[in-house]
Order: sequence, then structure tokens, then C-alpha cells
Amino acid sequence: MSQSLKTVKGMRDLLPEVARKFRHIETVATDLSQLYGFEEIQTPILEPTALFLRTLGDTSDIVTKEMYRFTDHGGDDLVLRPEGTAGVARAFINEGLAQHLPLKLFYHGPMFRRERPQRGRYRQFFQFGVEILGVEKPQADIEVIACGYRILKSLGVLGTVTLHLNTIGDSASRNAFKEKLVAYLSDKKDQLSKESVERLEKNPLRILDSKDAGDKAVLTGAPKLKDSLTEEAQLFFNNVVEGLGILEIPYVIDERLVRGLDYYGHTVFEFTTTALGAQSAILAGGRYDGLISDLGGPKTSGVGWAFGVDRIVELLPELPVAKKPIAIIPMGPEAETMALKLAEDLRSNGLSIELGFSGNLAKRMKRADKLGASHAVILGSDEIAKQVAMVKFLKLGTQEEVPIRDLVARLSHSSTKEPS
Ligand code: HAM
Repeated sequence: MSQSLKTVKGMRDLLPEVARKFRHIETVATDLSQLYGFEEIQTPILEPTALFLRTLGDTSDIVTKEMYRFTDHGGDDLVLRPEGTAGVARAFINEGLAQHLPLKLFYHGPMFRRERPQRGRYRQFFQFGVEILGVEKPQADIEVIACGYRILKSLGVLGTVTLHLNTIGDSASRNAFKEKLVAYLSDKKDQLSKESVERLEKNPLRILDSKDAGDKAVLTGAPKLKDSLTEEAQLFFNNVVEGLGILEIPYVIDERLVRGLDYYGHTVFEFTTTALGAQSAILAGGRYDGLISDLGGPKTSGVGWAFGVDRIVELLPELPVAKKPIAIIPMGPEAETMALKLAEDLRSNGLSIELGFSGNLAKRMKRADKLGASHAVILGSDEIAKQVAMVKFLKLGTQEEVPIRDLVARLSHSSTKEPS
């Protein structure tokens, strides 16, 4: 294949077996988030570059190196969205949704980040996310976490998963902490990784989640964020923790968890798995009370999360087999015409029908078998002359002549219940 027709690096085709799992995950997540009162929002995949420059942070990995950014033919500076929260905030402002607060929204779709591809990390990946806008109270944090927990539980993926929880406080808490952290780390620069030395000036909080062994060693003696929390911030977090306790949602407090996007304050959380190597975060989020006002909108609280569908697919247990089809096998032109009509009648009754048109009878039967068909309905000239069809019950290995006029009723009944 010529170079230009290969799949773009880090992007992939989702073939039917995987696409079926994606669909299942999105269906379960959609149904459950609707139980929690979330409604769907769809925002464009292309957004103005300024949206992400103003929300994710100048020093975030996404902004510094991962955006698919380009200028279109009209000269507009655009980005393929790397995440969904900023787009929801923009829609909230543009569409004048402030009068409808509080709002509970869910979304799903492709996101794009030019990261180094590896297992569980793609350059086009899919997120499902929820956001609650306009609720200042910790009850909203508890509710979104409970919703995420329930989705993961329903999908059967909690086995290897832990909820990591932290608070990064309000801005007063963070400013006080940053000062102490910078003071502590400044005379240990020589022991820090190059990346952390850079962050010391630009975004010292992010040093806390460094994976570098040297950084980790230095951080063991560092001041703790929890000791700089204002009283309000501590109280807010206590309420979140208490709510999770009441709902019996297990968590661990992870003082190093700060998240890689700048818009967070107060609660941050990540559900991580031990089953996916380095790409351990499967669902992550937090509170972002400053995001909408930073974009020029009215001061509005927000809290939410997004999960990576591509990662959850890897953890998903085998799905139950899809409904088995019925194979209709017409032999000869007259039967073919009849089969088209019969197939439509059966489909109107909710049955899944496969029409086998090519090859000899043996080949068509083989294909029916491969599709896992429950029945094969053979229509040949002998059968048509007698106004019957030969129905083979493939699992039982039995067969039965059924009058054509009774076929719909007989198959509708026996596709749920085979004769014993
Ligand atoms: P995030 O942590 O950047 O947060 O991404 C959320 C989830 O998306 C991750 O935990 C992971 O499962 C998945 N993900 C991220 N990057 C990739 C990738 N390259 N390949 C596969 N999966 C990936 C956000 O995006 C926030 N907008 C979440 C949020 C919503 N916060 C508040 N509301």
C-alpha cells in the first residue's frame, strides 16, 4: 500500500468486534447517566485554538505538544478537540445556557492528542463524559463520582480498579502551598528531573505527579498540600469524602494527584487500573469553578469527568453473543424474489435476518453456520411448488416443513423458543 493510504499513526479502524464493544460501553454509560438526570450535548470536533489555550494551561502537555492545530483556508486557527469540557463550557456561554442552571450534560465522541502511541494510548481516542454546571455544593462532586462508579460497575470492569481522590483546594490554598513547595524545592534543583526544574517556575503543582524516581525521592520530605488548605476547602473536601462513605464507594486519598489540566480546583479524582500498564487512568475528572468565568462567561461552578472508551474496552469481559440471525436461503429466481419479501416481514417482527444469495446450498449453509444462525430457511422450487419452506433448526440438527403463510408466526415464536 502506498505510504499515504496507511492509517494515520496512533489512529485505528474499529472493526466490528471492537466497535460492538464500543457501542455497548456507550449504551450502558448513556442509559445510566440518563438515570442520574444527565442530558446529551454534542459539540463540534473542531474548536477555535484560543479555547484550549485559555483553559488547559500554557504549560499543560496538551497545549505545549499534543494539539492537532492548523490554519484553515479562511485563515482560522483551529484545533481538533483534545477533550470535551472546554467545548461544553464554550457552548454554555455561546448558547446562553446560564438561564437553565443547574445543567447536567453528557457527551461522547472522538478526541485528539498527539501523544506517543502505545497500548491504551491513541492519537484519536474516544471519551464519554459528564458535567454538572451551576452546583457549588459538594453533593455534585459526590453525584458525578457515584455515576462514574456505577457505570464502571455495570460494565464489570471494577476488578482491577481503584478510585484515587484528592483536593487541590481553592486558589488561596494553592497559592499558599505553591510558595512553600517552591521554597522547599528551590535548593534541591540539582536532584530534580529537567522537566520538574522547568515546572518549578511555570507550574510547580504538577511536579507532585512526576513519575521520575529522583523527583519522587525529593518529594517525600516536601510540604503537603493538605496542610495549606483553607478552612472552607478542607470542609468542602470532608463533605465529599463523607458522601462517598455514605454511598459505600471505596477510594484512597492520593495526595500526589493534581491532574494535568489547569482548570481544576477543589476535588480531583481518577479511577485507575493495574491491568493496562502505564496508561492506568480510565476515568478522571474534578471540579472547575473558574473555567467558565475564565472564558468570559458568568461565574458558574462545574464538576465532571470523562472516561476513555478505548481503555475500558481492554478491561471489558466477553460480551454475551448478539441475537442470532435467521438465514434465509433461496434457491432459484422465483425463491429469491419471495425471500426478499419474507425477510422484510420477519424483520418487521424484530427478527434479525441474513439473506444468502451466492454459492451452492452447501456453501450457503456453511455461511449460515459461521454467522451463528439459529435457523436456516430453505426455499427451493420443490418447496415453492408445495407452498412450504424447509426450516432447519441448526442447533438441534432437526428440520421441519412449514407452510409459507405460517413462517412469520412460526419463526417469530421459535427464534425465542426452539422445539425440544
Ligand atoms: P483527561 O484525564 O485528560 O481528562 O482524560 C480523561 C480520560 O480520557 C483519561 O482518564 C483516559 O481514560 C482517556 N484518555 C486520555 N488521553 C487518552 C489517549 N491518548 N488515548 C486513550 N485514552 C485517553 C479530561 O479530558 C477532562 N476533560 C475530564 C473532565 C471532564 N474533567 C472534568 N470534566
